[in-house]
Order: sequence, then C-alpha cells, then structure tokens
Amino acid sequence: MRSKYVLANFKMNKVNSQVKEYLEQFLPLVEKSSAKIVLAVPSVSVKCAAKHVKGSNVSIAGQNINENDFGAYTGEINAEMLADVGASYVLVGHSERRNIFGESNEVANKKIQKALKAGLGCIYCVGETLFDRKNKRTSQVLATQIAEGLKSIYANELQSIIIAYEPVWAIGTGLTPQDEEIVEAVSVIRKALAQMYDENIASEVAVVYGGSVTENNSKVLSKLDGVDGVLVGGASLDAEKFSKIVGAFTTKK
Ligand code: PGA
Repeated sequence: MRSKYVLANFKMNKVNSQVKEYLEQFLPLVEKSSAKIVLAVPSVSVKCAAKHVKGSNVSIAGQNINENDFGAYTGEINAEMLADVGASYVLVGHSERRNIFGESNEVANKKIQKALKAGLGCIYCVGETLFDRKNKRTSQVLATQIAEGLKSIYANELQSIIIAYEPVWAIGTGLTPQDEEIVEAVSVIRKALAQMYDENIASEVAVVYGGSVTENNSKVLSKLDGVDGVLVGGASLDAEKFSKIVGAFTTKK
C-alpha cells in the first residue's frame, strides 16, 4: 500500500522566526497523523526547521537546488549543501521554476540525479498549462515531463521520488480541475511510468495533486482514485488550516 503524503510549499514566505513559530504550533496538531508530512521551507530556514522537527513525523524539504556539483554559480546551492543542513527532500520542476526561471525537463532531470546522489528524496512537479489543456495536449505534456524528467533514473530510485501533478492554471488561482480530470491525469502519469519501467513499479510510485488545495476541498481530493496526497502552497502558510488538510489524509485507527 502506498503511503499518504501531505506536502507544503512555503515558497518565498516566512522569515526564520516565523518558520519556528509555525512549527511550534503545527507539530502538536499533527503528531497523531499517519500521513507523511513534508514542509518545503525557504533554504535559509532548512537547518533550523530540520533541527526543530527531529523526532517528529514531519520532514523538511528545500525548494530548489542547482543542477551542478559545485563551483562558480553565485547565489546557488547544491544538493549536498541542502542534505548537509538536514533537508530530506527537494522540490524539482515546480511550475514557478519552469516558468519564471526557465527550468526545462532536462534541467529537472539533472537536479533529480544530483538530489538522489546526495541522499535527498525528490518531489518532482509536472503539469499542463491552460493552453495545453484547451488544445487537448495534457496527456502528451505529462508523458513528456515524466519521460524526460526521469530519464536514466533507476527503478529502485523511484521509491525516493514523489510525483506532484500540478496543473499550472490551478496554482494560486482558486481553480481546480474536475475530480475526473485529476484522476485521468494521475492515470496518464502512471501509464507513462509503466512505459518507462513496468506496471508494478508504476503502481508503487506516490502521485499527489497540487493546485489551490484548501481545507475545504482536501476531503474530496483524499478520496480520488490513485491520488496519494496533496502539495499545498497558499493554504499551508497557516498552521491550523494546514493541519486540517493533514487531517483529511489521516487514516483513523
Ligand atoms: P497553491 O500552490 O496551493 O497556492 O495553489 C501550490 C503549489 O504551487 O505547489
């Protein structure tokens, strides 16, 4: 059985003291949750946050790494640096990285390889634009993002990778796809994985949904076929609201 994941992306929000305050409020609210909880905090807060969550059911992720090993890349950080300060995961291929910073599938692929080598898990984000969807290109775009982003990744490394299906047009807009559109997209992603690996391997990969997830729609999302959790931006910034989303993915004992 695949685990349930509830992932937060703080983006460029919260100074270090606010991350600390957030954790003080959040950890007790989710301590009984069966879900795997990961918070992607600004890189300058990773060390402090990782120390704070030690021994809890929450892990810390970075939001980005550079695809190179080390050297003259002013302002960048590499996978090893992020792992060294206590991150367990890193986000790769988020649509803001793709659209604002020009991150291609090839670059995402290099980042995934570096992250895995450094012992980090990856949250690999894929998703179509509104233009793609209107032109009935969603499946093709998702299949290409999977094939190119995961090129040369071994089957046994997939256990360290979570795929986040995030339609670009749903991020931060309050819009979400129809339930059956999400189920369909997740199934396209698993089919693309099955083509690269095999059906069994594909069926073990965690695939989550992201894009305007709130405490109001998380219960419905938790019941969708093939959806193993959510990646939450805006609604993760409030500890109490986010703990309710975690609650939707917590199985009652
Ligand atoms: P949102 O962002 O929940 O604010 O739509 C999701 C994301 O960017 O991962």
